[in-house]
Amino acid sequence: MSAKLVIALTKGRVLTDELSLLAQIGVEPNEDPQKSRKLVFETNRDDVEIMVLRGADVATYVEHGIADLGMSGKDVLLEHSGVGFYEPLDLGLGRCQIMVAGLKNEPELPSRLRIATKFTKTAKRYYAAQGIQVDIIKLYGAMELAPVTGLAHRIVDIVETGNTLKANGLVPMELIADVSTRLIVNESSFKTKYDRIKSLIDALGKEA
Ligand code: PRP
Repeated sequence: MSAKLVIALTKGRVLTDELSLLAQIGVEPNEDPQKSRKLVFETNRDDVEIMVLRGADVATYVEHGIADLGMSGKDVLLEHSGVGFYEPLDLGLGRCQIMVAGLKNEPELPSRLRIATKFTKTAKRYYAAQGIQVDIIKLYGAMELAPVTGLAHRIVDIVETGNTLKANGLVPMELIADVSTRLIVNESSFKTKYDRIKSLIDALGKEA
């Protein structure tokens, strides 16, 4: 494992906030990741490196110790095994919810529902906990279309403002989980690089 401290960030909408949070605790990349095709960045601190990854991959890099720390949405973490890392801090960024949604004017539904989602594990766990049998249909985007076209009866998806649901004639129905960006830490890094990681967690905790 590298002697550097490697922090994996999630690219996309939340990256700006993640970078500001790091800047607040004195860690800044030498190049703007939002204007570069590079994936790994040196920082103003000799011992800290930043990686910019797809959200779903952050936990995998941290699990395997390639990154020591990561910033990842809870929605993604709920789909991950959760093995090999701790989740010490809620960074409070990217707040939204995972919800069940359906048509505003929903017809009578059969007892066994078809649920379209990209959050298949979360959806399965949610319905299993209630003893409800459902068929899960995996989609990768545009979930809102599924009830409209009859592909599925309901969806399990991220709701932030609710505008996407509304624009497609859907309404939020049941809250499954509150989502925000969490700090995750590789379990063995936490032991081998304890002092540096602890001070980072403490500093981020004060800002978050
Ligand atoms: C998410 C989600 C909804 C939308 C909800 O998609 O899948 O479509 O945001 O936001 P709203 O409640 O504010 O309208 P996102 O833009 O992250 O794209 P993706 O599903 O392709 O990742």
